[in-house]
Amino acid sequence: MNPFFFSILRILSDGKFYSIYELARSLNKDILYIKNTLLDIQRYGIILQQTYEHAYRWVNPIIWMNKDEINNYLHEDKQFYQFVVLDSVDSTNRFLLDCVGKDFAKFPVNTVIVTELQTMGRGRQGRQWFSGFGDSLTFSLLWRFERSINQISGLSLVVGIGIVRALKKFNISDVCLKWPNDVLICFRKLAGILIEVSNNIRNETFVVIGIGMNVQLSTKTKEYIDQAFTDLFSITGQPINRNLLLAVLLTELTSVLNEFNYSGFTFFRNEWLSYHAYDGQLISLLFPDGSIKEGISVGVDFDGSLRLKLATGEIRSFNTGELMLS
Ligand code: BTN
Repeated sequence: MNPFFFSILRILSDGKFYSIYELARSLNKDILYIKNTLLDIQRYGIILQQTYEHAYRWVNPIIWMNKDEINNYLHEDKQFYQFVVLDSVDSTNRFLLDCVGKDFAKFPVNTVIVTELQTMGRGRQGRQWFSGFGDSLTFSLLWRFERSINQISGLSLVVGIGIVRALKKFNISDVCLKWPNDVLICFRKLAGILIEVSNNIRNETFVVIGIGMNVQLSTKTKEYIDQAFTDLFSITGQPINRNLLLAVLLTELTSVLNEFNYSGFTFFRNEWLSYHAYDGQLISLLFPDGSIKEGISVGVDFDGSLRLKLATGEIRSFNTGELMLS
C-alpha cells in the first residue's frame, strides 16, 4: 500500500467528485500513480463511483477516527488516556506490545492504539481477525493491575461485560457472551477480545487488551470471515460514529477494570452468568492440543473458568479451550 492511499481517501472524504487530474495536481504525483492508487483503494473493498471523465467519488465515506473527537466524547475522563491513531498497522496488539517492550519505564499506562485498517489482526488461538478499512473498530488498551498474573483470571470475561454495558448505552440489548469472551448477537459474533500480557513484575501485571468490533463490514471483509458474524449496522440499521463508540467503550471498560483490580471476578460472576450464551446446553470444548471434552455447560466458577457437567455426572472446571455447540 503506497503512502498516498490515505491522502487520496482524505481528499475524497467529502463525498464529492474529484478528477484524476485534480488529485494528481494536489498530491504532486503523476496520473498513472494516482490511477494505480485508486485501483488499490478499490481492491480494499472501498466503493468509488467513477465518471467517464475520470472523476471519482467515495460513495460512503467514513468518519475518520480522531483523537480530538474521541476526547470530546470522553468529557472529563479525557486526560486519563493517551491516544495513538494510525491509518494502518498489522495489529494494534502487536504494535502496543512492541512499544511497551522497547521503553517500558517511560510508556504511559492507559495508552490506546486505534487504527483505520488492521492488515494482520490477531485473534485467539493463533487465528486471524479480519476487518477492512474503516469498517470496524479495532483498538488496543494498555492496562495495569495491582495483582499478580495468576490473580487476573477472569479478566477477559470482565472485558466482555464492559462491552455489553457499552452496547446497552446504544440501546443494543440482546447481547450475549460466549465463554470466554466472544460478544454475540443472536448467536452471531459481533466482537472479539484478545488479552496479551505485556509485563509481569511481582504484584503488578500489565496487559494489552485488544478489541475488534464489526461496525459496518464491507462485502470484501465479509468474504473472509468463516463463522457466523454480524455488525452494528445490521443490528441498528444506522451508521454509528466509531469515535463515540470508542469513548463509550473506554468509559465502561475503565469502570469494570478498576472494579476488577479491586474485587476480582467474584464481583462480576452473576452479571456474567446473566449474559452467558449456551448455558445448560450440550457443548464441546476444543483444547489447543486438539483434544475435545463434551458436557453440559453449567455456569462459570469464581475465577471465570467454565464448568462442564460430564457424561459421568462429574462437574469439572476448565480455563482454556474453544467452546463449540455439540
Ligand atoms: C478473537 O475473537 O479471536 C479475538 C479478536 C481480537 C481482535 C482485536 S482487533 C484489535 C486487537 N489487535 C489485534 O491484533 N487483535 C485485537
